[in-house]
Amino acid sequence: MKLGVGKRDSCITNNSIKSKDKRDPWTTQNKFFINNGEKITVDQIFEMKKRKEKAAFVTGYDYSNALIFDRAGVDGILVGDSAAMVMLGYHNTVPIGMQEMLIFCSAVSRAVRRALIVGDMPFGSYQSSIAEAVHNAALFIKAGCNAVKIEGGTGVVSLIRSIVAAGIPVMGHIGFTPQTASLWNNYRLHGKTIDSALKLLEQARELEKAGAFSVVLEMVTDEVASLISQNLSIPTIGIGSGMNCDGQILVSHDLLGLYQGIQLRFVKRYAHLYETIFDAISLYKKDIKEKKFPQDTNSFHMDKNELRKVIRKMKQRRKPREE
Ligand code: KIV
Repeated sequence: MKLGVGKRDSCITNNSIKSKDKRDPWTTQNKFFINNGEKITVDQIFEMKKRKEKAAFVTGYDYSNALIFDRAGVDGILVGDSAAMVMLGYHNTVPIGMQEMLIFCSAVSRAVRRALIVGDMPFGSYQSSIAEAVHNAALFIKAGCNAVKIEGGTGVVSLIRSIVAAGIPVMGHIGFTPQTASLWNNYRLHGKTIDSALKLLEQARELEKAGAFSVVLEMVTDEVASLISQNLSIPTIGIGSGMNCDGQILVSHDLLGLYQGIQLRFVKRYAHLYETIFDAISLYKKDIKEKKFPQDTNSFHMDKNELRKVIRKMKQRRKPREE
């Protein structure tokens, strides 16, 4: 084995792109052009609603995690602007821009074979003009996404129409919309009153008419989310919106127990990775301090004869200065 070449690098360092292709025909070279039947499309998400199969979405932002999520079989990965908080440490989603979002999207797209990848258009990337919104949506597709998501109701209908007309599938997002809610400190449950319910129903219908292939319902009462789901032909993807949406999405850091910033009632924790990673890193640090890591098995050795020659050379070099 070459120095520093572990198992995980072997398909690249052995110059075996060809043999990698045999194992994994869904390579970055062909994924823009060929659907080998494995890849989930927006039509398939749509079909799931028809046969009453719930669509399973999760957020993802980086190569290593997206690879696990994809191989675990989720239907969709949203590269959410929640990356601003869980990946970059901001207090809300407003500060993140196109540049950062595209880096996350291309990392995810390098890992994903099967799941539909949806790129979340960040605040400021679609408000100034329809032309700029279409241009930015296209950048998400060039970065490897299969669709984009846009927050908002009536105000974004015409730009959704234009992005769809440009051939780019769009996922809507109504109810609690974090990009603007954080500006107005408007963190609340939607669909508690008749006015709110009717407004949400109207917005959902408008998004459907504009050509959205699905709509995220965030923090909407179970009753109103059910009504919307029953009245739309496109699937609703719920987050904090009860059991009756056509699919569900959670922020991966929340369900994995990695993000400690906010504890949300609607999140189910499937793992406690904060504690797992904390314990692992603490143990690693302890091992270093106690000289238990690395061991000989983690080390690389030089040939003994070569070492003797080095030591001899060093002694010879030292002599003139000592005299
Ligand atoms: O950015 C995000 O993670 C989202 C989901 C919460 C739907 O928009």
